[in-house]
Amino acid sequence: MEKRSLVGLILGALLMAGTGGAAAAEITITCGVAGTEFDLCKSGAEAWAKKTGNTIRALRNVEDASELYGLFQQQLTSKSGEVDVYMLNNIWPGALAGHFIDLKPYTKGSEAEHYPNVLADYLVDGKLVGLPWYNDVGVLYYRKDLLEKYGKQVPKTWEELTQTAQSIMDAEHAAGNDKLWGYVFQGKAYEGLSCNAIEWIDAFGGGTVIDRKGKITVNNANAAKALSLAASWVGKISPEGVLGYAEEETRGIFQTGNAVFLRNWPYVWALASSDDSPIKGKFGVAALPRGDVEGGKPTGNIGGWGLGVSEYSGNKELAVDLVLYLTGAAEQKRRAISNSFLPTRPALFEDADILKAVPLFASIGPIVQNGVALPSTVTGAKYNQVSAAFWESVHSVLEGSETPEDALPELEATLSKIGRGGW
Ligand code: GLC
Repeated sequence: MEKRSLVGLILGALLMAGTGGAAAAEITITCGVAGTEFDLCKSGAEAWAKKTGNTIRALRNVEDASELYGLFQQQLTSKSGEVDVYMLNNIWPGALAGHFIDLKPYTKGSEAEHYPNVLADYLVDGKLVGLPWYNDVGVLYYRKDLLEKYGKQVPKTWEELTQTAQSIMDAEHAAGNDKLWGYVFQGKAYEGLSCNAIEWIDAFGGGTVIDRKGKITVNNANAAKALSLAASWVGKISPEGVLGYAEEETRGIFQTGNAVFLRNWPYVWALASSDDSPIKGKFGVAALPRGDVEGGKPTGNIGGWGLGVSEYSGNKELAVDLVLYLTGAAEQKRRAISNSFLPTRPALFEDADILKAVPLFASIGPIVQNGVALPSTVTGAKYNQVSAAFWESVHSVLEGSETPEDALPELEATLSKIGRGGW
């Protein structure tokens, strides 16, 4: 007994020394779960804990970004102090700003090391609600070997993608490869579908649902064209199951060799390139196609995540220190090299180690520059309602229960109700 408390005393003193006098603490952080993301998040946080003499409790997020938003919102609204450091999707700060501390007093201006447009997502009325952790952009993964086998090009338009997917599927099925699908994407009714659908619509020059000034623009002919093409995929080049798929289901199909094309985020690159991946060396990445209409353009949704410190944390200073560490250059570099997470720091795009490990990053610049944002900045606290109305409406078109011509005016009416009184 006595021996143990002596050891405890010595340990405690050592830990205090490590944190410059503050008592050692357990810091709780939420971590994503796509692929091997959880281990990466946990090991990063634990490296900080070791350095500072603290301990980490890493909590697993649910995979679905919308469900996660609901859980976090509930927890924060009840002022729970259970979590110190939250992952923040780049579309959330407008709604959740009140629950997070301002990081500005702690950063000493270092936030300027991030891309200004990425940082802007975490600035709400001058308050720095979070620091950018990684960036995301929707990209097209394609099977290089299959395109070569059938003498096809990487599609530049969605129409071309539709035809190429169908013809390769038909030929492979005829040859006995009957598990192969043409195109997989995130078609479940959740935030990920809003990401896909804004890409289709923007690619057809159909706008961004709500423009920067707050005007609802989604009810237009180009948006209808985009959605009717997407609806034509379901049950043909895409499995019916796509209506229930989020990121990981679609990665699973592509990575096991069972799809010609996949829409997903950069994290897939590292996983699909790993030694145990059946498609290692057989795939490429390109910008998502444009719509074959005037004003059509290649585009990809800009997603991404930051880290923020809860207003209800009992250990704010240590939590801030953890956030600064995880969003810092060394940790972003480690995450880029091992799991192809896109850094939010321009300097890292000139880092030779990163470019060697993830050749994709050398060509991703223009894809990010052509990216499209969901209308979260302009709709602020109402964004989640807006997005839910959007994905529900798109989902009903994909499942064939509504035509775009019926769904889009209805969506416009719903959005104007949500926006009544201003965004
Ligand atoms: C990715 C993106 C995020 C998006 C989510 C949708 O995690 O980074 O921005 O909301 O996917 O599923």
